[in-house]
Amino acid sequence: MSITTLSLKKLKEQGQKFSCVTAYDATFSAVASQAGIDVLLIGDSLGMVLQGQDSTLPVSMNDMIYHTQCVKQGATGPLIMADMPFNSINTLENALNNASLLMQAGAHIVKLEGGEWLAEYISALSDRGIPVCAHLGLTPQSVNKLGGYRVQGKEADKANSMINAAKLLEQAGADIILLECVPTSLAELITKKVKIPVIGIGAGNVTDGQVLVMHDLLGISSGHKPKFVKNFMTEANSIQEAFSQYNTDVKSGDFPSEDFSFSG
Ligand code: KIV
Repeated sequence: MSITTLSLKKLKEQGQKFSCVTAYDATFSAVASQAGIDVLLIGDSLGMVLQGQDSTLPVSMNDMIYHTQCVKQGATGPLIMADMPFNSINTLENALNNASLLMQAGAHIVKLEGGEWLAEYISALSDRGIPVCAHLGLTPQSVNKLGGYRVQGKEADKANSMINAAKLLEQAGADIILLECVPTSLAELITKKVKIPVIGIGAGNVTDGQVLVMHDLLGISSGHKPKFVKNFMTEANSIQEAFSQYNTDVKSGDFPSEDFSFSG
């Protein structure tokens, strides 16, 4: 069965959780599909986990198109979400052209990082039939402005602006919100305040869906390991088993437990 933005919304209405993992090629896309993963994200994290860059900023539109085409070849049912890379939405015209290229490469929905300012972009894309996921909280493309990869929305004013941004972007036509590295209590508030599905990473087990970078889930990432990362390979005999366990634990609400979440 193919997953759509509508089926994810129905899952939210029924109080059922869904799983998302990053994928960058046809082989892993096929294995994740067979394991029952609902959403495959071609994340610009590929700049770090595939290309060895120290941030996502160098990732180009051509990189994203190529990896989206690869993932499309292996996917057998999950919703395919592709990241709009750094500087690909610097004008409305570029946003429309670049999002269209990702849709033609096989994406069912594009993901944009930002805040309230995304509203006019989301509205333009949505009007033209392009579904959008709005990525709030820790937005890695802004790492230089944020001063590092740190938890966002801890202060009351910042939390309130994130809540307002989520509501505004839903009104503008966003189909999904993704929250990265925010306190669990804030993620819970936002998840309750919007009708569209909310995917979390480092946002507690209170969101409608969860996402992890594939390399983190398989325990093959190098460097600093963020608190929300769990290696599902430690108790699995195969990569498919690790994906399946992640899928099961997300859907039961067992992952992420408090040990993998930010309190407050
Ligand atoms: O690029 C990516 O993989 C992401 C996830 C970390 C959410 O945006």
